[in-house]
Amino acid sequence: MAENVKQFLCVWPFVLKGLVSTAATVVIFFFLVACSSLLNWVDIPIIRGTTFGQAFFTPQSSNIHRERIVYHLNCTNITQKCPDNYPTSFEPGESTTEVCPDYFRWIHQDLKQWETSGITKEMFERGIPGADNRLVIVNGSLYVEKYRPSYQTRDVFTIWGILQLLRLYPGKVPDLDLLFFTGDTTVVMKRDYEGPNATAPPPVFHYCGQKASLDIVFPDWSFWGWPEVNIKPWEQILRAIKEGRERTKWGEREPYAFWRGNPYVAADRVDLLKCDRSDENEWNVRIYKQDWFKEIGQGFRNSKLEDQCTHRYKIYIEGATWSVSEKYIFACDSMTLMIKPVYYDFFSRSMVPMQHFWPIRSENKCRHLKFAVEWGNNHTREAQDIGTAGSRYIEEMLAMRNVYDYMFHLLNEYAKLLRFKPTIPPKAQRVCAETMACSNKDLCKDFMVQSMVKSPSDKLPCRLPPPYEPEAIRASLDAKEKIAKQVETWETEYWEKKN
Ligand SMILES: *[C@@H]1O[C@H](CO)[C@@H](O)[C@H](O)[C@H]1NC(C)=O
Ligand SMILES: *[C@@H]1O[C@H](CO)[C@@H](O)[C@H](O)[C@H]1NC(C)=O
Ligand SMILES: *[C@@H]1O[C@H](CO)[C@@H](O)[C@H](O)[C@H]1NC(C)=O
Ligand SMILES: *[C@@H]1O[C@H](CO)[C@@H](O)[C@H](O)[C@H]1NC(C)=O
Ligand SMILES: *[C@@H]1O[C@H](CO)[C@@H](O)[C@H](O)[C@H]1NC(C)=O
Repeated sequence: MAENVKQFLCVWPFVLKGLVSTAATVVIFFFLVACSSLLNWVDIPIIRGTTFGQAFFTPQSSNIHRERIVYHLNCTNITQKCPDNYPTSFEPGESTTEVCPDYFRWIHQDLKQWETSGITKEMFERGIPGADNRLVIVNGSLYVEKYRPSYQTRDVFTIWGILQLLRLYPGKVPDLDLLFFTGDTTVVMKRDYEGPNATAPPPVFHYCGQKASLDIVFPDWSFWGWPEVNIKPWEQILRAIKEGRERTKWGEREPYAFWRGNPYVAADRVDLLKCDRSDENEWNVRIYKQDWFKEIGQGFRNSKLEDQCTHRYKIYIEGATWSVSEKYIFACDSMTLMIKPVYYDFFSRSMVPMQHFWPIRSENKCRHLKFAVEWGNNHTREAQDIGTAGSRYIEEMLAMRNVYDYMFHLLNEYAKLLRFKPTIPPKAQRVCAETMACSNKDLCKDFMVQSMVKSPSDKLPCRLPPPYEPEAIRASLDAKEKIAKQVETWETEYWEKKN
């Protein structure tokens, strides 16, 4: 790595314990997966124990109207234990009658596999070889057994997120035992659990799923930050993008489709490169290749997400699998041109073509993109409406409160299926928000502090809506298919007239 490349070191609090006597020990992470996202770069992150400490948080009454617990982060007393004085319950001031957003219904779908059988110890153990971590919650505390390293700080920020959920709803998250995979590709494939002698599939939590998989979809780490590529926690970056998009009104934006990212992670992205403007072709597409090494050297000058709302249309294209870039692309109220994805994350299954985005087929994508842009420039009002609806979906449905509520309900429903009592595995270690934040520094620590839940919620989670009827899912898929077909028909007519 170049001299001027700042290293972002996020450490595991419990790793430190073993490293205390050899503080200079450098643990090199294996290069696990050739990664997904638009934002991926290629690097070998180095994790090393530097400082460690213990934080305290003191339940204090604030002088607002009613007694309220405020969490404090105090890193001055350097010990290695988590504090014992966590609140174990809370009484929200408000009861809620709000029903959760519709996409929460997919929680039932993702767990349907185990609806009648429940999850036995045996099924669970079959999932261990595919998992990076085992996370156990007992009496409101989190214990982690690390099986293998994750790429960059995916695991650190995922665990940080779960710790924040425990702070938001103390005493409400039930005891549970779960397996987590932090890579890109789906791990539990349906085809491996079919046929007369098939065993029941293991439950494995992961960031994405696809039609052929049974992975249980959970929010990805980037909601709490991604220090390696300088992406702030979701609330902070969303605020910045909202300010950024105000700087150039839709009508004044470049009337082209924009994409910035690292193409060399997926064949489909490399295919997209040929749609860029050239001497021979004008497909109305503008591509900016991201060289993360250069970006890091230049302090991320050209990769700021808040400066990328400059074109009327933005292209979403998957990386190795799903891409975390999705929410940032949608947050600019440009119209999103979505190249048909194979994978889904926890919120994308309820998004609708022509309402939230313009659907693009992967084959002959240049022609489809050209048509979509030209259509948008002829129908600016409609295109703008799609852009606005897409960004509103992202802002409202993915408000952090909803992200936490989704995690809460998913974990809660999952815990109900367990047919064994979660106990702390011998090799697991307790992690808590305080030791995790205090043992880190620089951007890792900044992002943790920024995304930290500062008080228990003053209301209960939203109410989980019932499962979709199978017919409803089919009907909704059919409806989406029909809309996409309609767009194809318009396009066919357009090209026929043109030729
Ligand atoms: C730090 O914490 C330990 C254990 O809670 C306590 O015994 C010790 O007195 C504390 N040290 C300071 C300087 O407060
Ligand atoms: C933080 O903890 C230290 C050591 O226990 C204590 O001396 C100090 O007063 C605490 N600071 C705050 C702001 O609570
Ligand atoms: C959890 O709480 C129960 C009831 O208070 C207690 O019996 C049990 O020992 C606790 N378990 C752990 C691991 O703290
Ligand atoms: C299933 O198990 C039976 C009995 O062990 C065996 O005869 C049969 O070949 C197996 N079928 C498959 C598809 O593996
Ligand atoms: C856009 O408008 C121009 C001029 O009326 C027309 O020739 C072209 O076919 C239209 N394109 C689309 C995609 O609507």
